[in-house]
Amino acid sequence: MTYLKVTNISKAYGTQQVLQDVSFEIQKGERFGLIGPNGAGKSTLIDIITGLIKADQGQVVIDGQNIKGHLAQIRGKIGLVPQDIGLIENLTVYDNLYYFACLYGLSGQSLKDKIDQILQAMGLEDATKKKVKELSGGMKRRLNIGAALLHDPEFLILDEPTVGVDPQSRQRIFEFLKQLNESGTTILYISHYMEEVEALCHRIFLLDQGRQVAYGTQDQVKALVRQSNRIRFEIDRVPANLTAVLMAQDNGIKEVQSEWNQVSLLVDVTIFSMMKLIKCLEAQDCVIKSIYVEDISLEETFLQLTGKRLRDE
Ligand SMILES: Nc1ncnc2c1ncn2[C@@H]1O[C@H](COP(=O)(O)OP(=O)(O)OP(=O)(O)O)[C@@H](O)[C@H]1O
Ligand SMILES: [Mg+2]
Repeated sequence: MTYLKVTNISKAYGTQQVLQDVSFEIQKGERFGLIGPNGAGKSTLIDIITGLIKADQGQVVIDGQNIKGHLAQIRGKIGLVPQDIGLIENLTVYDNLYYFACLYGLSGQSLKDKIDQILQAMGLEDATKKKVKELSGGMKRRLNIGAALLHDPEFLILDEPTVGVDPQSRQRIFEFLKQLNESGTTILYISHYMEEVEALCHRIFLLDQGRQVAYGTQDQVKALVRQSNRIRFEIDRVPANLTAVLMAQDNGIKEVQSEWNQVSLLVDVTIFSMMKLIKCLEAQDCVIKSIYVEDISLEETFLQLTGKRLRDE
C-alpha cells in the first residue's frame, strides 16, 4: 500500500531551481533512502513533505491525505529528525525529552514511561542529567532521534542523522531503526553515504541538482551501475593517438585515461568486446602485459551518472 506519494514537485529559490519535477512513492512499512550530494535539494524536499515550506508545483499525499488542508492531522503521524540538531543546549537530556513530550501532549505516567523507553532505546540512561552542551556529537544525534519518537510516529523521517557519529553509535542507530521498522514504522532515510543506504533501505531515490538520477530497488539501481565496468591494462608503450583510436571504435568505450604504460577505460558492458580491444591494440603494435576488469561501485556509478562525487573528500 502506498504511504507517501510525491508527484511532480518543483521548487525555486529566486532564479535557482532547487527541485525539478520530483516524483516517487514510499510503501507502508518500507525503509526508503533518499541520496544526493551537498546541495542536491534533499532537505528542501523534506521541508516540503513535512509542510514546513510550500512547493511551487506538485503535490504530496501522506496516508491517503493531501498535505494541503490536512497538515495538522498529518504532522501527528510524522517524526522528523532534522539535519540541524533541534535540542535545547542548556537543558539536560531528561528535560529536553520532557519538554518535547509536553509539546506532544503527553503527561503523567505515560510521559515518564515513554521517556524511560526512549532513554533505554537510545542508550542514554547514564546521561540523563547531562546538559546537551556537555554531550558528544554521537549522543546529541541519538537524543535528536529520541526526541522525534516521543509521540510514536508511524512515519519517521531522518535527515542525515549519523553525521559526526562514531561507528558504534551508528551501528546502534541502524539496529534500532530496523527494529522500529519491523514493528511497523515507515522510514525515510536521507543520506549522502551510499553504504548506509545500501545497508538500511529497500528502495532508493538518487537526487542530484534537484532532479531524479535513479529510483528503484537496490537491484534495479545496481543494474544501472553494472552496465559499466572499468578495464585497466598495461602495455609496453602508449601511442600518442591511443585515446582517439579507442574512442573512435564502436566498442562501448566511454572514457579513456592513460598514465605511463597504464590505460584505464570505462566501458558499457552491453556493447564492449574484449576481443575487439585486443585486436585494436595489436593493430597499434602494442604489446599487452596485463588486463584487469573491475566492477564499479555505487559510489562510482553516481559519479558516472552525475559527474560528481557524493561526498566532498
Ligand atoms: N531558504 C533558502 N533560500 C535560498 N536558497 C536555499 C534555501 N534553502 C536551500 N537553498 C538552496 O537550495 C539548494 C538545496 O539545498 P538543500 O539544503 O535542500 O540541499 P541538501 O541536499 O539537503 O544538501 P546537504 O547535503 O548539504 O544537506 C542549495 O543550493 C541551497 O543553497
Ligand atoms: Mg540537507
